[in-house]
Amino acid sequence: MIGFKYTGGIISEEEYQKKIDIARTFVARAEQDAFGGWVNLPINYDKTEFERIKKAAKKINDDSDCLVCIGIGGSYLGHRAVIETLGGERGRTKILYAGNSLSAREMRRVIDRLGDADFSVNVISKSGTTTEPAVAFRVFKQMLIDKYGAEEAAKRIYATTDAAKGALHDEAAAKGYESFVVPDNIGGRYSVLTAVGLLAIATAGIDIDALMDGAAEERTSLISDGGFAAEYAAMRNLLFEKDYNIEILANFEPQFMYFNEWWKQLFGESEGKDQTGIYPASVIDSTDLHSMGQYIQQGRRNLFETFVEVAADYNGITVPKMDENLDGLKYLEGKELDYINKTANAATREAHTSGGVPVLEVTMPKIDERSLGALIYFFEMSCALSGFTLGVNPFDQPGVEAYKTRMFELLGKPGYEK
Ligand code: PA5
Repeated sequence: MIGFKYTGGIISEEEYQKKIDIARTFVARAEQDAFGGWVNLPINYDKTEFERIKKAAKKINDDSDCLVCIGIGGSYLGHRAVIETLGGERGRTKILYAGNSLSAREMRRVIDRLGDADFSVNVISKSGTTTEPAVAFRVFKQMLIDKYGAEEAAKRIYATTDAAKGALHDEAAAKGYESFVVPDNIGGRYSVLTAVGLLAIATAGIDIDALMDGAAEERTSLISDGGFAAEYAAMRNLLFEKDYNIEILANFEPQFMYFNEWWKQLFGESEGKDQTGIYPASVIDSTDLHSMGQYIQQGRRNLFETFVEVAADYNGITVPKMDENLDGLKYLEGKELDYINKTANAATREAHTSGGVPVLEVTMPKIDERSLGALIYFFEMSCALSGFTLGVNPFDQPGVEAYKTRMFELLGKPGYEK
């Protein structure tokens, strides 16, 4: 379902074959669950919980103008990526995001946007102790209690956390919040297709069955030998060995902005350790061609680009015909805007290739639930294979703790005194 190609030279066929063979050696471990629960999730998810998610989404649609989703990192970026890439909320309930920073200004903005709307809260934290969402949860919980009273507030809180332990788990059990599970064997950045992402996505009116079906279909095409995911993983590693140590995810649809953010976390947190790893960056073109295009075309030659392409056309907006030609656009009259965008895309790939930037292409059939589910799975598998090929563990994130320890010392958290 997801296509991949590389046409940029630099890498010999022999090098490529050798590296793919290495990447493929890790595929067998995926099915045996050594990669964690996300590998088989699309065909092996908790159907009862899935139905409960849909029911909860329906209740939220019935009683809430807004759902405040509280979470950070892997407990935030996935659902925002899916909702925004698919064009935003489709029904009554708007999704607001909180707890993904410690900015008081941002918190005020969310509170102001909420105004006097009816709302519910979806608090998502695997550990249940992450400071950013924990602080935000206190704020919005208090707002719910002030607005609805403690009993109704508890009915408007949905907690997604560990099945058995943690502060959030314990509070949810004590207060009777409807709870969903972050599976033990699925790390945050691989968890978008669990309850972590699905409650917000379903509340936004997106078809979560189709999302899972797309991921399942992609799993089928990758699970035996890694398919295009192994090819992409091999190519990234080969480029990295040739000192291309920055990868830019590029696409021509602004709706992908948060998908790019999700992708950056996936690859950055999975590979950036042991003093190695490609630095993941992103652009949305043609917007960023007018800001970052200069650097990409002529700056330091240590970057390569991966373009996410959408195969299907999006027709319906054409350049109007006019008697005059004051703007010099006669040559585009009657042309579809999507055709012009795709042409700009092709031109950019050619220009950057000729400027010495290796260009990879990942293609999805269209922007819909199935294709996006497939794309998510494709990148998850690619990331795992790429990390192992690089020689790191793509499933841990030991470096994330460093700032927390220092922050707790400075804030005087009990147990962290100097
Ligand atoms: O991918 C990860 O593991 C991290 O981004 C976490 O998801 C993030 O730190 C939030 O953690 P938690 O869900 O425990 O609050």
